[in-house]
Amino acid sequence: MTEAERRAALDAIGAEVAACTRCRLHEARTKAVPGEGTAATEVIFVGEGPGFNEDRQGRPFVGQAGALLSELLGSVGWSREEVFITNVVKCRPPENRDPEPDEIAACGPFLTRQLVALDPALVVTLGRFSMARFNPGARIGQVHGTFRPSAPESGAPEALTYAMYHPAAALHQGSLKATLFQDMEGVPLALLEARKLRSVAPVPLGTAGLLGETAHAPAVSEAAEPFATPGPSNAAAESAGAFAESGPTDQLSLF
Ligand code: URA
Repeated sequence: MTEAERRAALDAIGAEVAACTRCRLHEARTKAVPGEGTAATEVIFVGEGPGFNEDRQGRPFVGQAGALLSELLGSVGWSREEVFITNVVKCRPPENRDPEPDEIAACGPFLTRQLVALDPALVVTLGRFSMARFNPGARIGQVHGTFRPSAPESGAPEALTYAMYHPAAALHQGSLKATLFQDMEGVPLALLEARKLRSVAPVPLGTAGLLGETAHAPAVSEAAEPFATPGPSNAAAESAGAFAESGPTDQLSLF
């Protein structure tokens, strides 16, 4: 798919989401929130569902949690415009309650189609509902800050999934903020591992140069095993099955 075709596919999905009545969440929504970002990215961030501000604006992560997400991206030299950001459910659950299984299931095909259109190398899951979609059975307390292959049925069978706590969790529990920033440091390195697994040469896509700037990437040559640990310790990987821990890295430009 060309970048233009990816964009067209994402826009078509967005239009369908805006008019969707597949589950009860459409009844109370102000605006559906399909997601936003560039079609020329290798990285998608998947949250849980829109909150109050997102419902008003029709855009993902624009409230307090969104401000923290922007800070997290900035901490590794990335910006919202360089990634794609979406949610497991595209309409706000009333009172910000957890999404119900049937709502997640009804909305699932939209996320699947977004993943197919983007074909990301790396999926960063924000919170347990997103994590459960890509790595069912994993426990966030054990696997945050680590990556592993996505479940084949996730819609991104060739992507690595990197688990993070939801930014909103740090708004309620301040101690998680440092954990989030620490985990964020591992995201660019997980992207490097994802690129290696896909054996993707740094070929520019469209004019933006999707895989450009790899010269800025730190060397990770010793990690010949798909899930060898590039970071300082393998303990998390051992305790979390196929998860592997990624460590801090120099800034890796997406474009
Ligand atoms: N929380 C989410 O999970 N998604 C948003 O878009 C905003 C807050």
